[in-house]
Amino acid sequence: MKHEIGIVQPEYLIEDWPGKYEVFSWLEYVVTVPNPIFLITTRKANGAPNANLHSWGLLTGERGNYSSLLALLDHTHTYANILREGEWCVNFPSFGHYPQCFETIYCNGPENDEIAEAGFTLEPAKTVQAPRVAECFANLECRLEWHRPLYEGSRWRLLVGRVSHAAVGEPATVIDPAERVRAMGLMYNVRGTVNPLDGRQHGPNTLGLLNEVVKIFTDDGCPKGWRVKAQEE
Ligand SMILES: Cc1cc2nc3c(=O)[nH]c(=O)nc-3n(C[C@H](O)[C@H](O)[C@H](O)COP(=O)(O)O)c2cc1C
Repeated sequence: MKHEIGIVQPEYLIEDWPGKYEVFSWLEYVVTVPNPIFLITTRKANGAPNANLHSWGLLTGERGNYSSLLALLDHTHTYANILREGEWCVNFPSFGHYPQCFETIYCNGPENDEIAEAGFTLEPAKTVQAPRVAECFANLECRLEWHRPLYEGSRWRLLVGRVSHAAVGEPATVIDPAERVRAMGLMYNVRGTVNPLDGRQHGPNTLGLLNEVVKIFTDDGCPKGWRVKAQEE
Protein backbone atom coordinates (compact mmCIF):
# COMPACT_ATOMS: atom_id res chain seq x y z
CA MET A 1 0.00 0.00 0.00
CA LYS A 2 1.25 3.45 -0.92
CA HIS A 3 0.91 6.35 1.56
CA GLU A 4 0.10 9.76 0.03
CA ILE A 5 1.71 12.44 2.20
CA GLY A 6 1.63 16.23 1.94
CA ILE A 7 4.56 18.61 2.25
CA VAL A 8 3.59 19.99 5.67
CA GLN A 9 5.72 18.59 8.49
CA PRO A 10 3.47 16.58 10.85
CA GLU A 11 3.27 18.04 14.39
CA TYR A 12 4.27 14.71 15.93
CA LEU A 13 7.60 14.77 14.05
CA ILE A 14 10.14 16.19 16.53
CA GLU A 15 13.69 17.18 15.50
CA ASP A 16 16.39 15.05 17.14
CA TRP A 17 18.83 17.99 16.85
CA PRO A 18 17.85 21.67 16.86
CA GLY A 19 17.31 23.14 13.41
CA LYS A 20 17.44 19.78 11.59
CA TYR A 21 14.22 20.38 9.64
CA GLU A 22 15.20 24.01 9.02
CA VAL A 23 18.45 23.12 7.28
CA PHE A 24 17.09 19.96 5.62
CA SER A 25 13.61 19.05 4.43
CA TRP A 26 11.94 16.48 6.68
CA LEU A 27 10.95 14.69 3.46
CA GLU A 28 14.65 13.88 2.87
CA TYR A 29 14.38 11.51 5.86
CA VAL A 30 11.20 9.93 4.51
CA VAL A 31 12.25 9.46 0.89
CA THR A 32 15.81 8.43 1.92
CA VAL A 33 17.32 8.03 -1.53
CA PRO A 34 21.10 7.81 -0.86
CA ASN A 35 23.47 10.25 -2.59
CA PRO A 36 27.10 9.43 -3.43
CA ILE A 37 29.63 11.05 -1.09
CA PHE A 38 32.50 13.22 -2.30
CA LEU A 39 34.92 15.86 -1.02
CA ILE A 40 34.79 19.37 -2.44
CA THR A 41 38.23 20.96 -2.23
CA THR A 42 38.88 24.68 -2.56
CA ARG A 43 41.47 27.25 -1.44
CA LYS A 44 40.91 29.39 1.63
CA ALA A 45 41.54 33.15 1.50
CA ASN A 46 45.11 32.55 2.79
CA GLY A 47 45.71 29.84 0.15
CA ALA A 48 45.39 26.88 2.57
CA PRO A 49 43.48 23.78 1.37
CA ASN A 50 39.81 23.49 2.38
CA ALA A 51 37.84 20.22 2.30
CA ASN A 52 34.08 19.81 2.54
CA LEU A 53 32.53 16.35 2.93
CA HIS A 54 29.47 16.47 0.73
CA SER A 55 26.73 14.47 -0.94
CA TRP A 56 24.31 17.05 -2.35
CA GLY A 57 25.30 17.21 -5.99
CA LEU A 58 25.50 15.41 -9.28
CA LEU A 59 27.49 15.12 -12.48
CA THR A 60 25.93 15.78 -15.87
CA GLY A 61 26.77 17.15 -19.31
CA GLU A 62 27.11 16.53 -23.02
CA ARG A 63 29.89 16.48 -25.63
CA GLY A 64 32.91 18.30 -24.17
CA ASN A 65 30.86 19.83 -21.35
CA TYR A 66 30.94 17.54 -18.33
CA SER A 67 29.66 19.53 -15.35
CA SER A 68 29.46 19.35 -11.58
CA LEU A 69 26.31 20.61 -9.85
CA LEU A 70 26.61 21.39 -6.13
CA ALA A 71 23.93 22.34 -3.61
CA LEU A 72 25.82 24.19 -0.87
CA LEU A 73 24.71 25.92 2.32
CA ASP A 74 25.48 29.65 2.14
CA HIS A 75 27.40 29.74 5.44
CA THR A 76 30.04 27.20 4.40
CA HIS A 77 33.66 28.13 3.76
CA THR A 78 33.38 26.28 0.45
CA TYR A 79 30.65 28.59 -0.83
CA ALA A 80 32.72 31.68 0.05
CA ASN A 81 35.87 30.14 -1.46
CA ILE A 82 34.11 29.32 -4.73
CA LEU A 83 32.59 32.81 -5.02
CA ARG A 84 36.06 34.29 -4.44
CA GLU A 85 38.12 31.96 -6.68
CA GLY A 86 35.58 30.49 -9.13
CA GLU A 87 37.12 27.01 -8.86
CA TRP A 88 36.83 23.70 -7.02
CA CYS A 89 37.70 20.03 -7.29
CA VAL A 90 35.30 17.13 -6.75
CA ASN A 91 37.12 14.14 -5.20
CA PHE A 92 35.54 10.70 -4.75
CA PRO A 93 36.92 8.76 -1.73
CA SER A 94 36.54 5.03 -1.10
CA PHE A 95 34.75 3.66 1.96
CA GLY A 96 38.14 2.82 3.57
CA HIS A 97 38.83 6.54 3.90
CA TYR A 98 35.68 7.48 5.80
CA PRO A 99 37.56 8.30 9.05
CA GLN A 100 39.69 10.90 7.22
CA CYS A 101 36.57 12.21 5.46
CA PHE A 102 34.82 12.88 8.78
CA GLU A 103 38.04 14.36 10.15
CA THR A 104 37.60 17.19 7.59
CA ILE A 105 34.47 18.26 9.50
CA TYR A 106 36.30 18.37 12.84
CA CYS A 107 39.29 20.39 11.51
CA ASN A 108 37.06 22.93 9.73
CA GLY A 109 39.05 26.10 10.65
CA PRO A 110 39.41 29.38 8.75
CA GLU A 111 43.16 29.14 7.98
CA ASN A 112 44.42 25.55 8.48
CA ASP A 113 45.36 22.88 5.91
CA GLU A 114 42.32 20.59 6.13
CA ILE A 115 43.66 18.00 3.69
CA ALA A 116 46.83 17.31 5.72
CA GLU A 117 45.11 17.64 9.12
CA ALA A 118 42.46 15.12 8.12
CA GLY A 119 45.19 12.61 7.20
CA PHE A 120 44.93 12.97 3.43
CA THR A 121 47.63 13.95 0.91
CA LEU A 122 47.42 17.05 -1.24
CA GLU A 123 47.84 16.58 -4.99
CA PRO A 124 48.18 19.73 -7.15
CA ALA A 125 45.52 20.12 -9.84
CA LYS A 126 46.46 20.59 -13.49
CA THR A 127 44.04 23.33 -14.57
CA VAL A 128 42.82 25.06 -11.39
CA GLN A 129 44.44 26.34 -8.19
CA ALA A 130 42.07 24.36 -5.96
CA PRO A 131 43.89 21.31 -4.54
CA ARG A 132 43.04 17.64 -5.17
CA VAL A 133 43.01 14.76 -2.67
CA ALA A 134 45.57 12.17 -3.78
CA GLU A 135 43.85 9.19 -2.08
CA CYS A 136 40.59 9.69 -4.04
CA PHE A 137 39.97 7.41 -7.04
CA ALA A 138 38.59 10.26 -9.19
CA ASN A 139 39.25 14.01 -9.12
CA LEU A 140 37.36 16.48 -11.30
CA GLU A 141 38.73 20.01 -11.65
CA CYS A 142 35.86 22.50 -12.09
CA ARG A 143 35.39 26.16 -13.04
CA LEU A 144 32.26 28.02 -11.93
CA GLU A 145 29.71 28.73 -14.70
CA TRP A 146 26.71 29.99 -12.69
CA HIS A 147 25.14 30.01 -9.25
CA ARG A 148 21.75 30.89 -7.77
CA PRO A 149 19.65 30.30 -4.63
CA LEU A 150 17.66 27.04 -4.66
CA TYR A 151 14.58 29.29 -4.41
CA GLU A 152 13.97 32.83 -3.13
CA GLY A 153 15.07 33.13 0.49
CA SER A 154 16.73 29.68 0.52
CA ARG A 155 19.97 29.14 2.43
CA TRP A 156 20.92 26.52 -0.19
CA ARG A 157 22.82 27.67 -3.27
CA LEU A 158 23.07 25.78 -6.55
CA LEU A 159 26.41 26.08 -8.32
CA VAL A 160 27.39 24.61 -11.67
CA GLY A 161 30.98 24.29 -12.79
CA ARG A 162 32.39 22.92 -15.98
CA VAL A 163 34.96 20.15 -15.61
CA SER A 164 38.27 21.38 -17.04
CA HIS A 165 40.32 18.25 -16.26
CA ALA A 166 39.85 14.79 -14.76
CA ALA A 167 42.24 12.43 -13.00
CA VAL A 168 41.17 8.81 -12.48
CA GLY A 169 42.83 5.95 -10.63
CA GLU A 170 43.05 2.20 -11.31
CA PRO A 171 39.27 1.50 -11.03
CA ALA A 172 38.80 3.42 -14.31
CA THR A 173 40.86 0.76 -16.12
CA VAL A 174 38.66 -2.11 -14.85
CA ILE A 175 36.16 -2.81 -17.62
CA ASP A 176 33.76 -5.22 -15.88
CA PRO A 177 31.07 -2.93 -14.32
CA ALA A 178 30.62 -5.00 -11.16
CA GLU A 179 34.36 -5.24 -10.55
CA ARG A 180 34.82 -1.53 -11.28
CA VAL A 181 32.16 -0.54 -8.75
CA ARG A 182 33.76 -2.88 -6.19
CA ALA A 183 37.20 -1.35 -6.85
CA MET A 184 35.80 2.18 -6.44
CA GLY A 185 34.23 1.50 -3.04
CA LEU A 186 32.08 4.61 -3.51
CA MET A 187 30.28 5.69 -0.31
CA TYR A 188 26.64 6.76 -0.14
CA ASN A 189 25.06 9.09 2.40
CA VAL A 190 22.23 7.06 3.97
CA ARG A 191 19.93 9.40 5.88
CA GLY A 192 18.50 8.69 9.29
CA THR A 193 14.96 7.39 8.77
CA VAL A 194 11.52 8.75 9.65
CA ASN A 195 8.16 6.97 9.57
CA PRO A 196 5.84 9.72 8.21
CA LEU A 197 2.75 8.05 9.71
CA ASP A 198 3.72 8.29 13.38
CA GLY A 199 6.96 10.31 13.54
CA ARG A 200 9.12 7.42 14.75
CA GLN A 201 12.71 8.04 13.67
CA HIS A 202 16.15 6.53 13.73
CA GLY A 203 18.45 9.49 14.24
CA PRO A 204 22.00 9.02 12.97
CA ASN A 205 22.79 9.05 9.28
CA THR A 206 25.05 6.27 8.13
CA LEU A 207 27.06 5.16 5.11
CA GLY A 208 26.12 2.78 2.32
CA LEU A 209 28.07 0.82 -0.27
CA LEU A 210 26.65 -0.43 -3.56
CA ASN A 211 26.91 -4.20 -3.06
CA GLU A 212 25.35 -5.58 -6.24
CA VAL A 213 25.60 -4.75 -9.94
CA VAL A 214 23.17 -6.78 -12.05
CA LYS A 215 23.81 -7.22 -15.77
CA ILE A 216 20.28 -6.94 -17.21
CA PHE A 217 20.95 -6.78 -20.98
CA THR A 218 20.88 -9.85 -23.20
CA ASP A 219 23.37 -10.28 -26.09
CA ASP A 220 20.90 -8.60 -28.52
CA GLY A 221 20.85 -5.46 -26.37
CA CYS A 222 17.38 -5.86 -24.79
CA PRO A 223 16.71 -5.74 -21.06
CA LYS A 224 15.83 -9.22 -19.80
CA GLY A 225 12.06 -9.51 -19.23
CA TRP A 226 11.33 -6.57 -21.57
CA ARG A 227 7.55 -6.54 -22.21
CA VAL A 228 7.63 -5.76 -25.97
CA LYS A 229 10.14 -8.53 -26.65
CA ALA A 230 8.18 -11.01 -24.54
CA GLN A 231 4.98 -10.30 -26.55
CA GLU A 232 6.77 -11.05 -29.85
CA GLU A 233 7.74 -14.52 -28.64
C1 LIG B 1 28.02 12.03 5.19
C2 LIG B 1 28.11 13.48 5.61
C3 LIG B 1 28.12 13.79 6.94
C4 LIG B 1 28.21 15.11 7.36
N1 LIG B 1 28.22 15.35 8.69
C5 LIG B 1 28.33 16.62 9.12
C6 LIG B 1 28.38 16.90 10.51
O1 LIG B 1 28.31 15.99 11.35
N2 LIG B 1 28.49 18.18 10.92
C7 LIG B 1 28.58 19.21 10.02
O2 LIG B 1 28.70 20.38 10.42
N3 LIG B 1 28.53 18.98 8.69
C8 LIG B 1 28.42 17.72 8.23
N4 LIG B 1 28.38 17.48 6.89
C9 LIG B 1 28.41 18.65 6.00
C10 LIG B 1 29.77 19.17 5.65
O3 LIG B 1 30.78 18.21 5.59
C11 LIG B 1 30.23 20.34 6.51
O4 LIG B 1 29.24 21.33 6.48
C12 LIG B 1 31.57 20.86 6.02
O5 LIG B 1 32.55 20.55 6.96
C13 LIG B 1 31.60 22.34 5.75
O6 LIG B 1 32.90 22.65 5.31
P1 LIG B 1 33.32 24.12 4.84
O7 LIG B 1 32.74 25.10 5.81
O8 LIG B 1 34.82 24.07 4.90
O9 LIG B 1 32.81 24.31 3.46
C14 LIG B 1 28.29 16.15 6.43
C15 LIG B 1 28.28 15.83 5.10
C16 LIG B 1 28.19 14.51 4.70
C17 LIG B 1 28.19 14.22 3.23
